[in-house]
Amino acid sequence: FLPVLLDCDPGIDDAFALAYLACRDDVETVGVVTTAGNVGQDDVLRNALGLTELLGMDAPVARGADAPLVEPVMTAEETHGPHGLGHAQLGDCGRHPDGRSGAQLWVDLARKYPGELVGIVTGPLTNLALALREEPDLPQLLRGLHVMGGAINHRGNTGPTSEWNIAVDPEAGHEVFEAWGKASKRVVLGALQATEVIRLDERDRRAVKELGEHPVVKVLADALRFYFEFHEADGLGWCAYLHDPLVVANAVTGRFATTRPLAVDVELTGTLTRGQTVGDEMGRWGKEPNVDLLCDVDAERFIEHLISTLREGLGA
Ligand code: BDR
Ligand code: CA
Repeated sequence: FLPVLLDCDPGIDDAFALAYLACRDDVETVGVVTTAGNVGQDDVLRNALGLTELLGMDAPVARGADAPLVEPVMTAEETHGPHGLGHAQLGDCGRHPDGRSGAQLWVDLARKYPGELVGIVTGPLTNLALALREEPDLPQLLRGLHVMGGAINHRGNTGPTSEWNIAVDPEAGHEVFEAWGKASKRVVLGALQATEVIRLDERDRRAVKELGEHPVVKVLADALRFYFEFHEADGLGWCAYLHDPLVVANAVTGRFATTRPLAVDVELTGTLTRGQTVGDEMGRWGKEPNVDLLCDVDAERFIEHLISTLREGLGA
């Protein structure tokens, strides 16, 4: 099996990413770390504990950082609902957080599965940046790192040029990209250009509602309805971009997109562009690529795959 650590901020699309991992027989989710982002740390932690319990996942869930490295946390209740899962209600949860910090769980699992652990981040990169301070060899220890984040030389979804996960903690993004570059490794990056191709429509929403009798299906469906309402209010029509699951599915299957190498860094000081992910398309920096950027996303095949994986895992 493939050992996976998911660092996330559930978050509606993060909830789908967790459910997808739970439904894959060839994957063992060995750890879940939460990062303050879509909503505050208390809520993302409660959501991760409740979702893993409902999904029957026994991976330790560790509380990550309460705030980004430098600035106070920003949250997005209008996008993900007052507690992060839209209209969904999670009942009382019997699970408790792991005693370790999120950063410590990264370090412990990377050392426990050297060369095997697949790290996936679908929220801000705060915990991973903190983990790198304790274990600078993380880029070599991991089998790979897959991140949903950034908008490479492209409009943002937070500031005019910044994407949410990087905008929440630009310093952490910078530290992670720099560390991977120094180690001559590449982060597999699903930026907005790739993830916004995954646009669920009403037919997909109904398919989610009808996935099966499993109690998590109602949570996913109620969460997704809120996400559609948000996208509609944002002027995008009755639809929802499902960013995080694409990156997770690509990490464990290598399918649904191609990649191209690129040197990437995060703008930290721009008064208009802080948090922008800049890609050096022309090689002006003279640096080796530190990113494999997801391109050519096959949305139709991916959405079909996501729904059928969830149906097989949750339908019975
Ligand atoms: C990212 O930001 C969050 O709102 C989503 O969960 C996703 O990880 C998209 O910009
Ligand atoms: Ca997320």
